[in-house]
Amino acid sequence: MSTSIPHGGRLVYRWQPDYSTQDLNHEVELDAMALSDLELIGTGGYSPLTGFLGQKDYDSVVERMRLADGFPWSIPVTLPVSEEKADTLETGDPVKLVQDGIVYGVLHLEEKFVPDKKREAEKVYRTSDPAHPGVKKLFDRPGVYLAGPIFLINRSKKNTFASYYLDPAQIREAFDARGWKTVVGFQTRNPVHRAHEYIQKTALETVDGLLLNPLVGETKSDDIPAEVRLESYEVLLEHYYPKDRVFLAAFPAAMRYAGPREAIFHALVRKNFGCTHFIVGRDHAGVGDYYGTYDSQKIFSEFGEDELGITPLFFEHSYYCVKCENMASTKTCPHGREHHVTLSGTKVRQMLRNGERPPATFSRPEVADVLIRGLREKTVTT
Ligand code: ADX
Repeated sequence: MSTSIPHGGRLVYRWQPDYSTQDLNHEVELDAMALSDLELIGTGGYSPLTGFLGQKDYDSVVERMRLADGFPWSIPVTLPVSEEKADTLETGDPVKLVQDGIVYGVLHLEEKFVPDKKREAEKVYRTSDPAHPGVKKLFDRPGVYLAGPIFLINRSKKNTFASYYLDPAQIREAFDARGWKTVVGFQTRNPVHRAHEYIQKTALETVDGLLLNPLVGETKSDDIPAEVRLESYEVLLEHYYPKDRVFLAAFPAAMRYAGPREAIFHALVRKNFGCTHFIVGRDHAGVGDYYGTYDSQKIFSEFGEDELGITPLFFEHSYYCVKCENMASTKTCPHGREHHVTLSGTKVRQMLRNGERPPATFSRPEVADVLIRGLREKTVTT
């Protein structure tokens, strides 16, 4: 077998479509984040988690980035409900996990507890500023956490690009079928621009394959929607990547914008997906200026060499240099900033929404065209 050992030693799999929920009286409505977490627990993306965190694990994750048994885990995976809802539930109850009338899973309720959200914000997000989108979400969600093992009994419907939604075991099989022994994972919540392409291909020079693994779960409203991005990745791969070296699959998690903590989480989940390496560039999973440019790289030094079981590949801020006439970073280019093509995410989104292609040195024209069209259609239909 080729690829990495799952976190905790084996892939968790809690898919039980024939679980009968007819006689269950209790139910909890899931928000988008909880539904995506349920699916990722059930399919093993979050191995070794088998459910939503109980207080002991939660405290341990918040305080020391490890589960109570010592395995690294940096983001609390929780199921928040209101106090009124929590009061109707007894520990020991099986609880249906529902969204819009559809039962997606069952929680065997072991514990309910009231978290200290301010502490969670400060430790996990390094800020309690409610203007931070992840912190806002944390505070907006209700105040009691339910915990216990889950069973996944139904999968959320994918209207488009369904073939990219693959379970960790399927992704691992695909790597094996290609004979890849080393695979680098790439996380993104954005279209792939030239800097992304550059660091992916630089990594690809030394490993067997690339897992292009865009996050397609909930993101903040001004990020480019996943269905528009997925088409743009297809077009990019078709024109600029060797087919037998890249595998495209969706990462259905919600974005937390937790910067460094989320970089560790992203790496561990990609290990479960079979990756041996993981790319961490500038301000990975960051937002605004809450994190230093390389904080998401520095945090990896808080773990022992064998603890994470996946090798991070760090990249400097990259750009096209007009003088070098190629992609570069300060590690490889001596020229001043005035020669570098850099555009902020906000500026690029603005250009695309105005129907304008960013320069070809920033974004492939084929990609820009898909994004312009996709965003236009999105504005018309929503
Ligand atoms: S993220 O929130 O999903 O991390 P983004 O899609 O911007 O955001 O980044 C995807 C990956 O590419 C991250 O590892 C990030 O650090 C890296 N990255 C993004 N832009 C650059 C750049 N110009 N130079 C180097 N790395 C970058």
